[in-house]
Amino acid sequence: MIEMKHVSFGYDTGKTVLDDVSFTIGEGECVGLIGANGAGKSTIMKLLAGILFGEGEVLIGSTPVKKDTLYEVRRKLGYVLQNSDHQMFMPTVYEDMIFAPRNYGISKEETEKRIDAVLEKLDLTELKHSRNHKISGGEKRMAAIAVILAMEPEVILMDEPTASLDPYNRRIVINAVNSLPQTRLITSHDLDMILDTCSRVILLDKGKIIAEGRAEDILSDRQLLEAHRMELPLSYTGR
Ligand SMILES: Nc1ncnc2c1ncn2[C@@H]1O[C@H](COP(=O)(O)OP(=O)(O)O)[C@@H](O)[C@H]1O
Ligand SMILES: [Mg+2]
Repeated sequence: MIEMKHVSFGYDTGKTVLDDVSFTIGEGECVGLIGANGAGKSTIMKLLAGILFGEGEVLIGSTPVKKDTLYEVRRKLGYVLQNSDHQMFMPTVYEDMIFAPRNYGISKEETEKRIDAVLEKLDLTELKHSRNHKISGGEKRMAAIAVILAMEPEVILMDEPTASLDPYNRRIVINAVNSLPQTRLITSHDLDMILDTCSRVILLDKGKIIAEGRAEDILSDRQLLEAHRMELPLSYTGR
């Protein structure tokens, strides 16, 4: 459902940010993309969503991500951005949530049903009619996740979904991610969250894939993680 084949990319000419990245994620899989700051995780997300274009091939479902397929790609794909300020663009949470489903021709009645179900699942019902510029960073992150879940896309990309969340909301997001049937790719510095949600992990450093394998194997490998500026998740430190 998600595929990169020999993808290379640089923002500025002569500086490589991604170097020959290839991976495949199957239907219904939940995969964690981990790596230190600047490894290239968000850049991978943007290439998958067709916000950036590089060398090599990117596929969402069987659709190649190209400028002229963006409508089709965006319809299949929901993307929780690392910065929620860039995601919420309507005056209220509710208006952001109805935007995509209504745009894609889902009935008003079905859209309302989805919105109420998602808000309840995320314990956000109270924020339904809140104004986006008046909610806190953590609330905005939860609302941005709600917007994507209400779209019910085939593929979900989440860039640091638990950053800035308190433990209560972090747990709600973990449970929500685990209850989704869709294909999911999640980046996070919260390796305990990745361990709780993902069966497979891809480790990235300086734009290259360093390791790929079962979450339990990669996330329990102290030497590997420390060599790439990360720490063992608490679940494996014995604390
Ligand atoms: N808009 C941009 N212009 C130039 N360089 C960028 C831009 N965005 C990111 N970079 C650089 O690309 C590299 C990878 O960034 P990013 O994909 O955001 O990493 P991560 O999400 O893993 O922290 C970093 O060295 C970063 O400085
Ligand atoms: Mg990032």
